[in-house]
Amino acid sequence: MKIAIAADHGGFEYKNEIIKHLSRYEVKDFGTFSEESCDYPEFAKKVALEVASGNYDRGILICGTGIGMSICANKVKGIRAALCSDKFSAKATREHNDSNILCMGARVIDLPLAIEITDIWLSTPFSNEERHIRRIGMIE
Ligand code: RB5
Repeated sequence: MKIAIAADHGGFEYKNEIIKHLSRYEVKDFGTFSEESCDYPEFAKKVALEVASGNYDRGILICGTGIGMSICANKVKGIRAALCSDKFSAKATREHNDSNILCMGARVIDLPLAIEITDIWLSTPFSNEERHIRRIGMIE
């Protein structure tokens, strides 16, 4: 599985730790590359376009709240970005929404939980149930 990841300054540290944790995956870091203040829409767009085009299977976006990243990523056609702050949602959004981008807020959840959420989200398959396929089709 190929994963595109990015963060703004608010999520910079979590991004770096999550990349270290995901060493068994093919992960490409799309920035930001320092703690200097930057604009989250730029990074959300980069990852969303990479996932929507099929260059990457999944995306992970981290900012202070995860909200800005999710708003931006969901503007790209074909993206189903899920803002998760708990493990139940991470599993459910894969099973029900087949979400292709995970957003998290580094000022909302602690790093161990962010890593747990990431692991659950990456390892949970889509349910493939008819009702969920139908609803996803309705989004498009
Ligand atoms: C940056 O200060 C902050 O606004 C950003 O990280 C994010 O929380 C936006 O939604």
